[in-house]
Amino acid sequence: MTYSAGEALLKEKIGLDANSIGAGAIANVIAQRMAACKITHISSYLEYLQQSPAEWEALIDIVIVPETWFFREPETFAILQQYISSQWLLKQPQRVLRVLSVPCATGEEPYSIAIALLEAGLSATKIHIDAVDISKQCLLKAQRAIYDRYSFRGNSLDFQWRYFQPTESGYRLREQIKSMVNFIHGNLADPNFLIDQPPYDIIFCRNLLIYFDQAFKEQTLRVLERLITIDGLLFVAHAEAGLLLQTKFNSWRKSSVITYQKMSKQQSLKDKIYLPIKESLAVAPQNKIIVNDLQTNLLETAQAAADRGCLDEAVKLCRKYLNENQMSVEAYVLMGEVQQAMGNNEQAVQYFHKAIYLQPTHKEALTHLALLKEHQGDVASANLLWQRIQRLDQKEA
Ligand SMILES: C[S@@+](CC[C@H](N)C(=O)[O-])C[C@H]1O[C@@H](n2cnc3c(N)ncnc32)[C@H](O)[C@@H]1O
Repeated sequence: MTYSAGEALLKEKIGLDANSIGAGAIANVIAQRMAACKITHISSYLEYLQQSPAEWEALIDIVIVPETWFFREPETFAILQQYISSQWLLKQPQRVLRVLSVPCATGEEPYSIAIALLEAGLSATKIHIDAVDISKQCLLKAQRAIYDRYSFRGNSLDFQWRYFQPTESGYRLREQIKSMVNFIHGNLADPNFLIDQPPYDIIFCRNLLIYFDQAFKEQTLRVLERLITIDGLLFVAHAEAGLLLQTKFNSWRKSSVITYQKMSKQQSLKDKIYLPIKESLAVAPQNKIIVNDLQTNLLETAQAAADRGCLDEAVKLCRKYLNENQMSVEAYVLMGEVQQAMGNNEQAVQYFHKAIYLQPTHKEALTHLALLKEHQGDVASANLLWQRIQRLDQKEA
């Protein structure tokens, strides 16, 4: 028996696609666990693993990537707040807003959601937040709610002094926010995930789908579709935006954030709501088809094709545009995003590199590249890129 049997088990149990972090990485963590258990043969270890829930947990804890921080991709939280103040509070002021954060890792994401919702004007009694992760170790840390400086990145850290108290062991989150989040141990790769829960109005599912293979991605999207209300909003990470093209979710794009809304039964794929890039979420009329016939620019048309899920068409248009505009940073970024959506990660990396070569301070391209490197298991390059982004944030501050 070889390490590939371990890879297959991890895929079956938690959806982890070895290609997303590299087969070498999985072999390394299995070797680490074998050493910790003093087991020398892989076949004996895999047998032991099958019988020992505690060993599964230990393996999961070292194979997962729990990287997260408060207000990661801050524009997403700005859009959430905009939606609450301009739509939710006007239409459903009395209803409790149900929110799901999965995977929540060590809690920074669901706590950021709680802070964002309070600051958007919702009262704590009108907010219900469930936060799920497969790692019990992460959940324990989340429930402890004491964080070190790595959980605070970027330049907008005002919330830190408002909601955290510095202590000897780290920054302790105020009880008011801590008590707003219910942490649940769960596995999103399970088709019966949260089967008994009522649907959620908002779902954050960021930085997990990229670790799943196509079959698990599709299964997970069906699970999310079951778990979200009609008109509910789904947020994924920048790097995952392409994964939801051609699904039963409508996409809205605002600046660099794409938000998804479940399509009602009457709508078909070809009726997807489509808003041009600069359309504001706040003024987006619901269930209305907007045909974007104002595209004058080839690059905008390429972007529009990408947003509709016509990836081949987007590539063609983008290439045509690049033939005439070889120095267009935005075109390289778009090509990178589309290649990534098509699963061509290596090509995506090359396009993001070209964009950064032309504009070394392009934060979106740097972020895409950092996430791709992280997902390819190249932690050293990813860290260098994160440091570069942090320096840019500090300069902007
Ligand atoms: C990179 S973190 C993402 C955290 C947060 N959503 C964010 O974007 O900052 C990935 C998390 O996914 C969790 N995870 C991995 N596989 C999972 C699964 N099958 N079900 C639930 N959580 C899972 C890991 O434990 C890890 O904490």
